[in-house]
Amino acid sequence: MAKQLVSGIIGLLPLPLTLVTVANKANISDVFTASWVGVLCPDPLYIGVGINAVNYSHELIEDNGEFTVNIIQEGFVREADILGITSGRDLDKFEKARITPQPAKEVKAPNILEAAISIECRVQEVLRLGTHDFYVGRVLATHVDESVLDGKKINVEALRPIAYAENSYWSLGRKMGRVGRVMPE
Ligand SMILES: Cc1cc2nc3c(=O)[nH]c(=O)nc-3n(C[C@H](O)[C@H](O)[C@H](O)COP(=O)(O)O)c2cc1C
Repeated sequence: MAKQLVSGIIGLLPLPLTLVTVANKANISDVFTASWVGVLCPDPLYIGVGINAVNYSHELIEDNGEFTVNIIQEGFVREADILGITSGRDLDKFEKARITPQPAKEVKAPNILEAAISIECRVQEVLRLGTHDFYVGRVLATHVDESVLDGKKINVEALRPIAYAENSYWSLGRKMGRVGRVMPE
């Protein structure tokens, strides 16, 4: 490998493509496409999301400190694209992308009916990092659609999640092996 020293490139990829919802105390909600999302601790489960301080969703999460992370399937890439380039300041994004907010179990922020997985989180800490603030969320509830459940596991082939890298949307390729049991070539 002959690595070049580069700047302005996000070397961590692929990233998950998610839809994050937020709501303020008055129950006004918003949804946006988010890829600055990751698992911070598996037990207890914490998920973090970085939100640009200029976004409408930032205003709402600052008021109420809750969010949901929703995993959509390949068929919803158009909706994700719309939600990533429009603002809740200008329009009702749920209506615009034709997705359905559904009351969550533990938080005011809605789950998304059409998403295969919805994860409800309460903000425990906020890191003020720069353009984006990073919200550390304790996971309070996880909902998984039966069609992608395989016993206590998620059937990734059935789920067909979307990845994000270098300004583009990607599907996953083939399974390469299981942990501790990598398939021969
Ligand atoms: C693929 C993709 C990933 C994105 N990831 C994030 C993210 O993690 N955090 C963020 O603040 N904005 C992210 N954005 C941008 C927001 O979705 C976008 O600014 C949106 O218009 C904000 O909507 P709002 O004003 O209703 O909050 C992403 C956009 C796309 C297309």
